[in-house]
Amino acid sequence: MTHNHQDYSTTFPDVSLKIYTVPVSLRRHLYMFKTLTGVFSYKKLDLGTKVLVDHMIIPNKPSVLLDLGCGYGVIGIVLAYESPFSSVYFIDVNNRAIWCTRENVRLNLSKNKGKYKIYAGNYFNPIEETKVMFDAIYMNPPLRKGRKEFLDLFTYLPNYLKPNGSFQFVIKKKMGSEYVYKYLLDRFSDNNIKVLCKRSGYWVFYYNQI
Ligand SMILES: C[S@@+](CC[C@H](N)C(=O)[O-])C[C@H]1O[C@@H](n2cnc3c(N)ncnc32)[C@H](O)[C@@H]1O
Repeated sequence: MTHNHQDYSTTFPDVSLKIYTVPVSLRRHLYMFKTLTGVFSYKKLDLGTKVLVDHMIIPNKPSVLLDLGCGYGVIGIVLAYESPFSSVYFIDVNNRAIWCTRENVRLNLSKNKGKYKIYAGNYFNPIEETKVMFDAIYMNPPLRKGRKEFLDLFTYLPNYLKPNGSFQFVIKKKMGSEYVYKYLLDRFSDNNIKVLCKRSGYWVFYYNQI
């Protein structure tokens, strides 16, 4: 398989390896993230990720949470910090992203190692055997190759949510947030799908498994 040198959604990115440090304050806490070339937004935190992290709803009881397409682990690390009694899963197809996530969990979350599960692989494949179900799944989806793969997630992602579980995700308006909203309203009811916020050109969505 040949890879575009900027393609981060690949198992082994084909770009020379450089390491960066991204310091960022989120929900009033300072984090330090190690990142590598070939990983999404490795030079600075993506604005869409920040908008999602600032507005995502975090369950206030111990929960099982998933950062799907975790990149260098920002969303899941904030979830784990803010909800210390929850278990947090991380999945990404990109092996460099998974290396960064492991480092960043170690650097930013000192305790409760057993509560974090970090997997390399394609969407839910790595956890298929575990039969785990989530209270909430969070995602800044890869849309570079179009929306189809993301919209296809709605055919099977709900199977991984507990009753009343949520799927929270961010879409840039220019990448089709209105289209996605209409598509989901056609497919589900307006009790199932809400827009939590529209900020800085991004929409944060909340899909609720009722
Ligand atoms: C837009 S980036 C978001 C990364 C990270 N969550 C963040 O906010 O910085 C999308 C991520 O999804 C990952 N990804 C793409 N296709 C995937 C797949 N089939 N299974 C798992 N992860 C995938 C990419 O490698 C990338 O890290």
